[in-house]
Amino acid sequence: MTARDGFDSMYRAINTSLAYRAAVRASETGLPDWLVPFSFINAALLELITATLRLGTGDTVIDLACGTGGAGVWVAERTGAALIGVDFAPAAIEAATLLAERRCPGGQARFITAEATATELPAACASAVMCIDALMFIDAAAVATEIARLLKPGGIFIATAAESLGEALLPTLVADYRPIFEEVGFRTLRYEELAGHDTQRLAFYHALEKHADALRAEIGDAAERLLAEARNGLERAVHNTRRVRQVLFIAERADA
Ligand SMILES: C[S@@+](CC[C@H](N)C(=O)[O-])C[C@H]1O[C@@H](n2cnc3c(N)ncnc32)[C@H](O)[C@@H]1O
Repeated sequence: MTARDGFDSMYRAINTSLAYRAAVRASETGLPDWLVPFSFINAALLELITATLRLGTGDTVIDLACGTGGAGVWVAERTGAALIGVDFAPAAIEAATLLAERRCPGGQARFITAEATATELPAACASAVMCIDALMFIDAAAVATEIARLLKPGGIFIATAAESLGEALLPTLVADYRPIFEEVGFRTLRYEELAGHDTQRLAFYHALEKHADALRAEIGDAAERLLAEARNGLERAVHNTRRVRQVLFIAERADA
């Protein structure tokens, strides 16, 4: 199965799963009911992203690897900026488009199915690009180049992402995003490990286990994939064998 098919089949399963929704809610994220991420975003991080991007009407923000679109819609609603969400999983884009129709009437938000490293959006079309918990699945140099192309000079990129602490779990996982983005013309503004991430992640894994029977009944194979990730993550926490850290990375595209 390709990575794209893996994400797509997961979204087809979880988009309507009440048990998945209950597990997300149990990890105390403070998110509104309509926002059900496939990530470890939370209300405090979304407030930080919104404040950092300093967007207004007339600006465009791209939510790259947007999943079902909630994080970008949150930012668009609060700032008045136009939103373009991009993800390669068609099931995610279908759900995001439905969300935008409900919450952003009038065409403020649109969602496209595309590869994050080759969006085919116009150059310098965005004041900001956000990317929640997805960089680690994408070739870092290629996506950094595409984000540099999409941003206006002085535009801001903000990401939450996993970094490898040793041997990379995925071929696309890197140890430090900063040099890769600096190589294509970004200036790092802020870079730090995300305090509280492990707590939210482990609470989510415990909630998945608590809802295991309901998940299996609702979504079958996809439940087994989620439960395997939860078991693995909880096991690693017990043995204190972390292989990744979660970071917040904010960078500015230098003037041309
Ligand atoms: C962990 S999910 C995060 C989704 C969303 N940002 C959120 O907060 O709910 C990672 C997302 O990255 C997307 N993705 C992974 N690789 C991609 C690629 N090469 N191009 C576009 N999207 C990609 C997946 O389809 C998935 O929606």
